[in-house]
Amino acid sequence: MKLAVTGKGGVGKTTLTALLAQVYADQGREVLAVDADPSPCLAGALGFPDELRGQLSPIAEMDELIEERTGAKPGTTGGFFTLNPRVDDLPERFSVLHRGVRLLEAGSVDLGGSGCICPESAMLKTLFTHLLFRQDDVLLLDMYAGVEHLGRATVDFVDAMIVVVEPTRRSLGTAAQIRKLALDIGLERLFLVGNKVRNTDEAQFLEAETPDLPVLGFLPADLLVQEADRLGIPVYDHAPSLRESAQEIARKLAEGSGRTHQDTAG
Ligand SMILES: Nc1ncnc2c1ncn2[C@@H]1O[C@H](COP(=O)(O)OP(=O)(O)OP(=O)(O)O)[C@@H](O)[C@H]1O
Ligand SMILES: [Mg+2]
Repeated sequence: MKLAVTGKGGVGKTTLTALLAQVYADQGREVLAVDADPSPCLAGALGFPDELRGQLSPIAEMDELIEERTGAKPGTTGGFFTLNPRVDDLPERFSVLHRGVRLLEAGSVDLGGSGCICPESAMLKTLFTHLLFRQDDVLLLDMYAGVEHLGRATVDFVDAMIVVVEPTRRSLGTAAQIRKLALDIGLERLFLVGNKVRNTDEAQFLEAETPDLPVLGFLPADLLVQEADRLGIPVYDHAPSLRESAQEIARKLAEGSGRTHQDTAG
């Protein structure tokens, strides 16, 4: 099962990724969660202890490693460097494991829409492609805002791209943009998760406004989420309402919602 979680800034991508990762880990599955945020926070959401977090750093910021593998210093453009550096050893070497979830921080490169090809973007692209080809039991990608790193491999191997939205028109606008980018590369297995939903009106609003994105489920707005953050406890442990909603979403994904859409769309 390979899942990519996307959506507008602050909608709850990291919260959902952490919840799903722990749901699968507690089912005894082997989970690899990848944080692709330039300022990573999945480790915190998963409740990784400080000593483990201290061992993590984003691959995109490992200048020496990038130079060693690509043949050029990060930040340089125009020189020669390899577009497919060796990355197969990175997931094991740089990830840490806690409560059944293996976490890797990939980091991110600002491509600035220029289609820039630099050593660090070559490294990340190769890494994502490699992750998608690997035979992990469960792979979860916390994609932060865009879908820039998503190429052919995503289309072929991602079982579901989950677009997280809040019950606001703004986050729906971003969802529509993501949908368009995804469809442009041929990815059709897109699903919506509504977060911070306070009542049935808001849930119905989301359903009504996204007829072309099947809804996997809703996570309720819950003050326990902020409290969990303040106390440094995973939302999974502290907010039963969100844990149960995430379990339901995982059930739907297991039932094959991630494939049904493709089949009906095809
Ligand atoms: N269901 C919820 N109820 C209440 N607050 C929530 C809920 N889900 C997320 N939040 C809060 O919203 C904020 C953003 O959540 P989160 O970090 O998961 O979003 P994100 O999409 O990963 O953000 P970013 O784009 O910055 O990576 C956090 O402060 C979190 O505590
Ligand atoms: Mg995030």
